[in-house]
Amino acid sequence: MIIKSAEFVISNSKIEGCPKPLIPEYAFIGRSNVGKSSLINRLTQRMKLAKTSSRPGKTQLVNHFIINKEWYLVDLPGYGYAKASKEQRKEFHQLISDYIAGRYNLMNLFVLVDIRLEPQKADKEFLTWLGENAVPFVIVFTKCDKLTTNQIQSNLAAYKRYLAEEWETLPELFLSSAETGFGSEEILGFIEKTNGLFQKP
Ligand code: GTP
Ligand code: MG
Repeated sequence: MIIKSAEFVISNSKIEGCPKPLIPEYAFIGRSNVGKSSLINRLTQRMKLAKTSSRPGKTQLVNHFIINKEWYLVDLPGYGYAKASKEQRKEFHQLISDYIAGRYNLMNLFVLVDIRLEPQKADKEFLTWLGENAVPFVIVFTKCDKLTTNQIQSNLAAYKRYLAEEWETLPELFLSSAETGFGSEEILGFIEKTNGLFQKP
């Protein structure tokens, strides 16, 4: 897919203010610092579109971007942030539950996972919750530029073994790097294909 335009639309702390769900939407979610905002910038080739930071907890709101005037990309706050208070965790969970329940147009959730790490508790819990709530998702492994091809294959195989313990059918898996752009075409191709399935309300 060719990105002709990518614009910031609005940030919200509650889902009521989100744009009307009239076009397909894709949201990026994952642990704090996994690279959600960076990957959005890479996919859209607008390096300053979503705010990134080396410190976890940068994205705090639901941020809508409109791409090619045809579909929304959504940058969500991260979970599993070690310093988050119990109250913040509760708020996050409420926001994400409301968001997922409230977006008729949400075609798919991209769950981002750091390729360097073995399955993390926060990711496992979140994936289980998605399964229980029948939310369609794929997994995108981030920061592949930090490993060799062999390490990537070995970590991917280990992650697949973990998933196979939990799921009868594996979700679609993507490899990516916001640093090099590796994997961008596959992700955009997936979005293009899925856009075709959207039914106007
Ligand atoms: P929160 O908004 O805090 O939840 O974080 P986030 O998931 O949006 O992460 P963000 O995109 O801000 O990136 C966090 C850090 O990881 C930044 O220092 C990025 O430069 C770095 N980073 C993100 N993606 C990649 C990648 O693919 N490769 C490398 N080497 N670094 C990356
Ligand atoms: Mg972010």
